[in-house]
Amino acid sequence: MFQHLEPYAGDPILSLNEAFLEDPRPHKVNLSIGIYFDDAGRIPVLQCVRDAEAKMLAEGGAKPYLPIEGSPAMREAVQHLLFGAGHPAVKAGRIATLQTIGSSGGLKVGADFIKRWLPESQMWMSDPSWDNHRAMFEGAGVAVHTYPYYDPATGGVRFDAMREAISRLPARSVVLLHACCHNPTGVDLSREQWRELVSLLQQREVLPYLDLAYQGYGDGIAEDAYAVRLLADSGLVFFVANSFSKSMSVYGERAGALSLVCGSAAEAELALGQLKATVRRNYSSPGIHAAGIVSRVLTEPPLRSAWEADVAAMRERIQAMRKSLHATLCAMKPGRDFGYFLSQRGMFSYTGLSAAQVDRLREEFGVYLIRSGRICVAGLNTGNVERTARAMAAVIE
Ligand code: LMR
Repeated sequence: MFQHLEPYAGDPILSLNEAFLEDPRPHKVNLSIGIYFDDAGRIPVLQCVRDAEAKMLAEGGAKPYLPIEGSPAMREAVQHLLFGAGHPAVKAGRIATLQTIGSSGGLKVGADFIKRWLPESQMWMSDPSWDNHRAMFEGAGVAVHTYPYYDPATGGVRFDAMREAISRLPARSVVLLHACCHNPTGVDLSREQWRELVSLLQQREVLPYLDLAYQGYGDGIAEDAYAVRLLADSGLVFFVANSFSKSMSVYGERAGALSLVCGSAAEAELALGQLKATVRRNYSSPGIHAAGIVSRVLTEPPLRSAWEADVAAMRERIQAMRKSLHATLCAMKPGRDFGYFLSQRGMFSYTGLSAAQVDRLREEFGVYLIRSGRICVAGLNTGNVERTARAMAAVIE
């Protein structure tokens, strides 16, 4: 029956992470997957998450199915986090929000919804983008294209070319945008560029689709929602898929949400209905444990302030690692400009290393990064950063 199946080549990020785990070398360094590790190289369990779980255990509640759209408490908390509790779109009921299976689940539900209700629409994503963006939308039957984004010559954004490409898109095109901490480059739009982009999006009849997976890792929790709020303030209709995997360090809980900001409350009600139908056809309903953690951490003041402090500490540790990596590389390769390590935001940096250099780093030095040259800066720590910088300097001509 299945002899004709093609072998799965594996996912470039997840397979590399598995290869890292199997590598017996004691001084190996994992810069492959987008996971935050602490200075001891462990995935932290935040105290606010432990406290939320302890409360849930003490309450001893049953575990019924959640509604298709997820927990009401979590959905409300997500809207307040992303848009602000007093935002007119929230107050007017113009936002359809669902708790989803991570933000990946949200992205896929949104892609399926687009295929069904805007069947002619095609999707444009940044060049480059997270590989799975293409896979998910193509998997939903939506054709995928790219718009110019990263400029290897300057290490910045090709903003003029990006604007030009978006200004020529057919009506109802879906424009996928990284709200902060661009994956894989770490290169974000400035606030001024976001404002320019939003006025362009307003002129075009396109559907922006924001991916907000690294909230808090750029400039701060509210600061990283800047693009989301700007689009909402401008009256645009758009999607935003957001994740708590990184910001609450709850990767395996699959805690995320999908929001569709609509033109009216009536439209949002229709949209919620059809998004629910999409979820029911996919995985029926999301998980109750993820909802319990996220809603408690976001809404109970002591947990919320502990979380905000933890996110700040994680962000600052990454920034410190960026500085150490930069300092050692500058010392070892004088005359070269490594300033991009300092200007890029969030977990990721695009190193500009070639696939051959990446292979050397892995094989000779046990330093794992994906072959595009992306590193996860959160895999660096005080014990490995200098060694990693020396290995990188050794493969740079
Ligand atoms: C990454 O880009 O490494 C993360 O988003 C994890 C993943 O699922 O790819």
